[in-house]
Amino acid sequence: MVSRRGFLTGLALTPLAYAVGCSVRTASPAAPAGTRPLPIPPQAPSTVGADGVRRFTLRAQAGSTEMLPGSRTATWGYSGSVLGPTLRARRGERVGVTVTNDLPEPTSVHWHGMHVPAAVDGGPHQMIAPGAVWTPSWTVAQQAATLWYHPHPHGATEKHVHRGLAGFFLLDDDPSDALDLPKTYGVDDIPLVIQDRRFTADGGIDESDATDVGLLGDTIVTNGIVGAHLDVTTERVRLRVLNGSSGRLYHLALGDDRTFQLIATDGGLLPEPVALSRIQLSPGERVEIVVTVRAGETVTLRSLPIEDRAGIDRATEFGFDDTFDILALRGAGTLRPTAAVPAALVPIRPLAAASTAPTRTFALRWFMINNRRMDMNRIDLTIPVDTTEVWSVRNEDNWPHNFHIHDVQFQILAIDGNPPPPALSGWKDTVYTAPGVTYTLAMHFADHTDPTFPYMYHCHLLHHEDQGMMGQFLVLAPGQRPAPMRMDMGHG
Ligand code: C2O
Ligand code: CU
Ligand code: CU
Repeated sequence: MVSRRGFLTGLALTPLAYAVGCSVRTASPAAPAGTRPLPIPPQAPSTVGADGVRRFTLRAQAGSTEMLPGSRTATWGYSGSVLGPTLRARRGERVGVTVTNDLPEPTSVHWHGMHVPAAVDGGPHQMIAPGAVWTPSWTVAQQAATLWYHPHPHGATEKHVHRGLAGFFLLDDDPSDALDLPKTYGVDDIPLVIQDRRFTADGGIDESDATDVGLLGDTIVTNGIVGAHLDVTTERVRLRVLNGSSGRLYHLALGDDRTFQLIATDGGLLPEPVALSRIQLSPGERVEIVVTVRAGETVTLRSLPIEDRAGIDRATEFGFDDTFDILALRGAGTLRPTAAVPAALVPIRPLAAASTAPTRTFALRWFMINNRRMDMNRIDLTIPVDTTEVWSVRNEDNWPHNFHIHDVQFQILAIDGNPPPPALSGWKDTVYTAPGVTYTLAMHFADHTDPTFPYMYHCHLLHHEDQGMMGQFLVLAPGQRPAPMRMDMGHG
C-alpha cells in the first residue's frame, strides 16, 4: 500500500517532504530522570526610550547546548544557544523588538497569540535575511496571558523551531496582578516548554526522518535540557506550560494522579479555576496550572497515552501510545505557605451565542485546508474589520491536526453542537481538532487593517504547516481593497 506521503511525493507536490524510507531507529542516549535543575529562561532586559516604547533585543544565532548531560548538541537560539529570553510587557504598553538574524539562512519571528498589525506579525511575509535587522513595534492591547514567539519561514518552520528557536512572551495587566496567584518568576511561577527530540549517537538533533506528524522524538526536552527537575520551595507552584513540539500531543498528569487547578489557557485566565487530573496539549497550545506540592515529596509531571483517538489511523506511529516523565517536582523540606487559588479569576464575555451559525467552514485534510495548500500569492479570505465571525472547523482526516488563527483569540462555541468542556471554555488561539469532530469558533477582528499583509490560519503541527496546511486572510477597513504584494516564493 502506498502511503499518502509517498503518494504526494510521487506527484511532486511535496518538494519539501522528508525522504520516505525505512530507517533503523536507535533510541536516544538516556539521561537519568530529574537529575538536572530545570533551566529558567532569563527575563529579557528592556529599556523604555523617550518615545515610550519598551524595547527588547533578540538575536537569532547558532550555538551548542548541553541538552544531554555531558555532550554538546548543535542548536539555534535567541540571544543564547537555545530557546530565548522571556519577553514581558503590560497591557497598554508600546513594545518594540530589535531582531537580528545571525543565522546562515532567512528566518522570521512570529508573536504567537498576540494581537498585532499584520505587517509586524512575523509570518512568512516578514522574512529577515541573514545579517539583517527587523524592528517591529506595536501596542499591547490584550489581557494578561502566556504567549510565545517562534520562527515562521514558509516551508522551514519545523526545522527552525526544532533546532531550538522559541521563547515565551508573557503579558501582564491589572486584573491578573490583583489576583493572589503564584507570580514570582522562576520561583513559584515557572515557564515550561515541553519538546521532544531524537538524538543521534553523537548527541546531535536527529532531523533525518519524519513521520506523517513530522519529527517525533523519543526523548523529552524541558526548557532546553533532558532530565530536568524543579526544586519547589512554595506550597503551590504555577506552571506556564507550552507544547513547543513539532507534532507531538501531550496528555499531562501528575504521577499520583492528584488534581491540579487549570487557571489559564492560550489567551489568558479562565473565569474560575478548573480542577483536573489530566489535560491534553497539542502543538502551540499553552495552559497555566497550579500544582500543590507537599514538603519533602517528589511528584512527577508526566505525559500519558492520548485517550482522545477516535478516527486516528496509526496512533502508535503518531506517538499516541507513548508515556514520558516530563519534570520531577521536588518539594523542599519546608515550603513557604501560599494562598489557595482564588475562586474567581477573570470574567469572559461571550463573543456570540452558542447557537450562532458559522459563516465560514474549514475542512482539514491531508496537507490542505478546504482542498488547497498554502500559496503565498493567494489571499484565501478577506474579513471586514470590527466584525465577529463564527468559523466551523472540521478535521476530515484520519491524522491528528489542530487549528491556529493569527491576530485573534477565539472562543469555542461548540464541539459537535455541544458546549465545550471547561478546559476549552476560555480564550484560545490554537485548538486540537479530532477526526470527524466539528469545532465552532467565534472571534472578533478589531483594530488592525492592512490591504497588503495577510495573517495566517493553519495547522500547528509544524510539518503540516510547512507542507502548506495554511491559508491567508486580510483584515480590511471599510472600502479598502486587497492590494497584496507579489512574492516570488510561492509554495508548490
Ligand atoms: Cu505559532 Cu502561525 O504560528
Ligand atoms: Cu500564531
Ligand atoms: Cu495537521
